[in-house]
Amino acid sequence: SQPLKVALAGLGTVGGGVIKLLDENRELIERRAGRPIEVVAVTARDRTRDRGIDLSRFAWVDDATTLADAQDIDVVVELIGGSDGPALTLARETLAAGKPFVTANKAMIAHHGIELAGLAEQQGVALKYEAAVAGGIPVIKGLREGAAANEIAQVFGILNGTCNYILTEMEEKGSDFADVLAEAQRLGYAEADPSFDIDGVDAAHKLAILASLAFGTAVDFKNVAITGIRHVIAADIKEAAALGFRIRLVGQGDADVKGLFQRVHPCLVPLSHPLAHVSGSLNAVVAHGNFVGRLFFQGRGAGEGPTASAVVADLIDIARGETGPAFAMPVASLARAEPAPADDR
Ligand code: NDP
Ligand code: HSE
Repeated sequence: SQPLKVALAGLGTVGGGVIKLLDENRELIERRAGRPIEVVAVTARDRTRDRGIDLSRFAWVDDATTLADAQDIDVVVELIGGSDGPALTLARETLAAGKPFVTANKAMIAHHGIELAGLAEQQGVALKYEAAVAGGIPVIKGLREGAAANEIAQVFGILNGTCNYILTEMEEKGSDFADVLAEAQRLGYAEADPSFDIDGVDAAHKLAILASLAFGTAVDFKNVAITGIRHVIAADIKEAAALGFRIRLVGQGDADVKGLFQRVHPCLVPLSHPLAHVSGSLNAVVAHGNFVGRLFFQGRGAGEGPTASAVVADLIDIARGETGPAFAMPVASLARAEPAPADDR
């Protein structure tokens, strides 16, 4: 059978992980996808950098945005990052060329996901972004497909692995905030600009995407109220523990008759609540459906392996020919996200 030919833009933590996963699980993936999945072209900034991967078997492209029009490519995977710039150009041009597009880029999906989903629908191709929220946890598929029959009034969770790792290490080992952040960067958890992590913006990108999927509304990032963990100090964590709580950065979305509430902030989580036991780089998402009841998704939310796992799952969907809507329903049917009045937030 014909291989699915992949162009990979970005060879950092996630891009490198995708190549390793496709190599290591090649046969299993081919059986499940129904055909081989082959990377044929790659791009990054620095061609000479040693990435511990043999890149000589792939065509090297200097300008990422030219991948969209390459003749021998079936699908483009964007793992560069950034809400605009080359990632967005590549997304627009790939979809406009009638090719499916896979990304882990939550910033871009939070800002431009609806526009891109509209383009994908016009062209009848897939826009996939499972890795963009909660790393390896299949929460996009879980909400969009698994819980599709339910009315969901609330979705919340721990959506940033870097912050959760920092808070956990500060509590369990008494580590210094800056030292743990540096370790999270070394482990490949943090964003290229880690202020997106510690200031809560990354979690807010993810919350806005989850809220859209849960409530069937258009993504509404600009109305997320955001407070990060930059000002959490060791004494806060100790006092919370003495009172029977853990500090966690929580993102929460509520939809009711007044509108949509979306917020990200450090929370005191009682030890009796499962979110208090989500530690290290783990993430968790909780959603309440009117027929399914409470759903609790937990798993590794950041890093090479879990994120590559989600990207390759999207490629397997594409190899199988799936082209369903990127959000809860076709873009034209998504409700407008009306923010709740400021007094109620
Ligand atoms: P990295 O910084 O490790 O990798 C980014 C890659 O993009 C690098 O290979 C870099 O090249 C390349 N790049 C940067 N600018 C350009 C450009 N203009 N043209 C071509 N290539 C370029 O990031 P990650 O792998 O960690 O993240 C990638 C994406 O995945 C981001 O959107 C991130 O938010 C998302 N993500 C990351 C997760 C994680 O745990 N790391 C988890 C979930 C999502 P070079 O190597 O030469 O510098
Ligand atoms: N920087 C992100 C995090 C990567 O720490 O959660 C996963 O999206």
